Amino acid sequence: MVGVDISPKMIELARKAGIFGRSEFIVKDVETLGKIGDFDIAVGMYLMNYAKTPKQLMHFCRAVAMNLKPGGRFVGFNDYPYNPQEKYGTYEKYGFRKTTVTGRKEGDPVTYYITTPDGREFQFDNFYLSPGTYEKAFKQEGFSSFNWEGPWLSEEGSINYPDGYWDDFMKHPPLCGMSARRN
Ligand SMILES: C[S@@+](CC[C@H](N)C(=O)[O-])C[C@H]1O[C@@H](n2cnc3c(N)ncnc32)[C@H](O)[C@@H]1O
Repeated sequence: MVGVDISPKMIELARKAGIFGRSEFIVKDVETLGKIGDFDIAVGMYLMNYAKTPKQLMHFCRAVAMNLKPGGRFVGFNDYPYNPQEKYGTYEKYGFRKTTVTGRKEGDPVTYYITTPDGREFQFDNFYLSPGTYEKAFKQEGFSSFNWEGPWLSEEGSINYPDGYWDDFMKHPPLCGMSARRN
């Protein structure tokens, strides 16, 4: 397994966590990663939503495709572009809210404000690209399928929280899984 991140700090944390056994780690921008192997699966946890333009998203998809075997899978999690803008402020009870500029357009920042269980706050930006841009980028860059997946409520989530607690999240997911298969 090989882990890639543009941030040396994130790679340092992954190395220290040691949960990936004998993995290799590379500090690199995925956009210019090039070919590093022939993998069965590529995982992009909140990666694609860092693309600021349709072109950059295509470059991310191209980099993933060139590192997958034919028939290999991409799976990931992402800011969900189908999330209606008017719902962005409705996730406070889950510890976060999203904001964006009025009239959300391709490349506009989606700012997440997170409150941790111990009361600390931080924020970061993802970037909005429309669902059609995602679908097109994956198809054009060598994937035969692209799907938004879930999210699904885990058994643990439904057992440990009151009835209806997750309704707002599940009715209008702010985040979503994604999968694609290489040609
Ligand atoms: C929300 S974090 C997820 C980190 C980790 N993958 C995980 O699942 O815990 C998103 C990560 O994407 C990285 N990232 C953003 N743009 C990138 C790029 N162009 N190339 C590689 N990594 C990038 C960030 O540095 C950040 O660590």
